[in-house]
Amino acid sequence: MISPDTITRIFDAARIEEVVGDFVQLKKRGVNLLGLCPFHNEKTPSFNVNPVRNIYKCFGCGKGGNAVNFIMEHEHFTYPEALKYLAQKYQIEIEETAPDPREVELRDERESLYVLNTFAQKSFSENLFESEEGKSIGLSYFRERGFSDETIRKFELGYSFNSWSAFAEHALKSGYKSEYLIQTGLCYPKAPKEGEVVNNEKLIDRFRGRVMFPVHNLSGRIIAFGGRVLKKDEKTAKYVNSPESDIYHKSKSLYGIYFARKAIVQKDNCYLVEGYTDVISMHQSGIENVVASSGTSLTVDQIRLIGRYTKNVTVLYDGDAAGIKASLRGIDLILEEGLNVKVVLFPDGDDPDSYSRRHGSAQVAEFIRDNAKDFVVFKTSLLLSEVSNDPVRKAGLIRDVVETIAKIPDPIIRSVYIKQCATLMEMEEQVLISEMNKTRRQVLKKEMPGGDVDELLPDILIQHSQREEVLTAEIQERNVIRLLLNFGSHDIHFDAEVDDPNTEGGKMHQLHAMKVCNYIVTEIAHDDILFENKTFNTILKIYADALEKGETITPQQFLISPDPSISEIAVELLSPRYFLSENWQVMHNIIVPEEEGILMDAVEKSVFHLKNRKVLKMLEDNQKKIKEAHEKGEDFMPLMEMHQKLEQVKMEISRALGIDILR
Ligand code: CTP
Ligand code: MN
Repeated sequence: MISPDTITRIFDAARIEEVVGDFVQLKKRGVNLLGLCPFHNEKTPSFNVNPVRNIYKCFGCGKGGNAVNFIMEHEHFTYPEALKYLAQKYQIEIEETAPDPREVELRDERESLYVLNTFAQKSFSENLFESEEGKSIGLSYFRERGFSDETIRKFELGYSFNSWSAFAEHALKSGYKSEYLIQTGLCYPKAPKEGEVVNNEKLIDRFRGRVMFPVHNLSGRIIAFGGRVLKKDEKTAKYVNSPESDIYHKSKSLYGIYFARKAIVQKDNCYLVEGYTDVISMHQSGIENVVASSGTSLTVDQIRLIGRYTKNVTVLYDGDAAGIKASLRGIDLILEEGLNVKVVLFPDGDDPDSYSRRHGSAQVAEFIRDNAKDFVVFKTSLLLSEVSNDPVRKAGLIRDVVETIAKIPDPIIRSVYIKQCATLMEMEEQVLISEMNKTRRQVLKKEMPGGDVDELLPDILIQHSQREEVLTAEIQERNVIRLLLNFGSHDIHFDAEVDDPNTEGGKMHQLHAMKVCNYIVTEIAHDDILFENKTFNTILKIYADALEKGETITPQQFLISPDPSISEIAVELLSPRYFLSENWQVMHNIIVPEEEGILMDAVEKSVFHLKNRKVLKMLEDNQKKIKEAHEKGEDFMPLMEMHQKLEQVKMEISRALGIDILR
């Protein structure tokens, strides 16, 4: 644990403009600094850094926070990782509260392994570029494959001499301990002869006469190597890889993640390929959001690693892969983790590597764009093409597809897929729904024995259109509550027309302050708008009651509410990923003018959106009444007047919201 003292020192030392400045080019703009936001794609800068308050804020995507938040967000670090990063930057010694000696020892040991791997990479690179053997065998191989020198340097590729112990000797001579040579897996002890004991000083190189691919972890340190043979030799394995070690857990690492992570965030998508060479060739074609599972099927840990950066995965397949069907199951796992999956099938005989080698970078990008198919649809069509009209096999197909859909955690996405697949398979949607409910019941039963499964299922049964309506309502209502919780006690100013006391009957403009919570409560209560979400209504009611009694409300009280539905929503809506809210205690007192403008706009819009939906609903109801009255021959003029009034209100709201009223 980092001591509180150290944490304070880090916070004091970290200058937001310096921390951000390491990643973003900032230009002075008044007291603030301005740059292109690293969290979303933009051409005109809206990323603000405020050195006075020591915070940053993007007016484009809404991200904001302090220096520690920035590093956490930008580098995808945990809180302690971010603190350590800043401590290093500002040369603050980290004081730990009661460091565990075993922990310290382990860390030192791991550090030694990293250092050794770096040494190994440097010497493999030197072999490749400087030695005759390396140049004539390794470098010429890479060049033949079309890798540029720049690419080779970027991925720190190398060559291991075709010798039993050239590396071991070089490393030992340079002072590296044999113990670490074994632990990293770079070497292993020579097998003892009869009657001899293992001698850890007699080492054999694991990688001999191979081109070397270092595997980097998230922070760019080398955790393992893959070595590829150069000859087409049936006897030796094509690749030799480092074994598991204290720093290398194969199931938790992805090849290329270090080079890809920024692009993955920026593109909000991650390409998944099979091997080292696919990753490297795609990079050379300018596609950088790509990682490899290294020949095996993905693990849950690897999927979660991707999930830290994006919720969208595109799997790139070799065209001739008979393995496509075998890998379908593995992809279910990605869906199960809540990620969206697309697939791209390369033309027969091509993989991402060979395709990008033979085509220009623009073409590669275009091919992927044009051929990416939604995975569930892809799987359905693939299986459908096999069953023809055989009813028994079709039943199997339905079960198979439904099982995949049932794995998706989000009920809304599930229902969209059910609809699509029903159309594709020319089936009744209801058949698929009940089939899926069966599957989900089984899954849930397994996950929570004794739980009331049926209670959890009704979500699936709501029809899609209804669900969409519920969804937009939910988003709008949530936004109002978010603003209420985060900025309830802030003032916003309105330009109001009031009586001028100096001139009889005259009017004057006056800036009129109002608390956000006051505004929201009165606007919503005034129009009798009730939220569809009960918890939101409760929260609003608490504010309304407090206002009536003249009490103030702090967001803390929602965070610690005994009602779990309230505290859960409060935690989520008060969390730093929501804009401006990085520290609402600080925000209580200080709010700079340009932010007030934004806040006021946000508050007004959120309320108007709710009203807009309400008016549309009233218009619809009224129209029904007009039709009925007309059919019965009753007087519908009052209804028509109502209609006109509603249309008027709708126009006003639309104007305020700036939305298209011609719809
Ligand atoms: N792989 C491995 N061990 C093997 C074969 C493959 O670890 N014996 C992993 C490697 O990470 C490899 C990936 O699986 O990159 C894909 O295998 P393959 O397509 O055979 O290798 P490529 O790297 O694509 O090699 P090349 O294109 O040169 O044949
Ligand atoms: Mn290949």
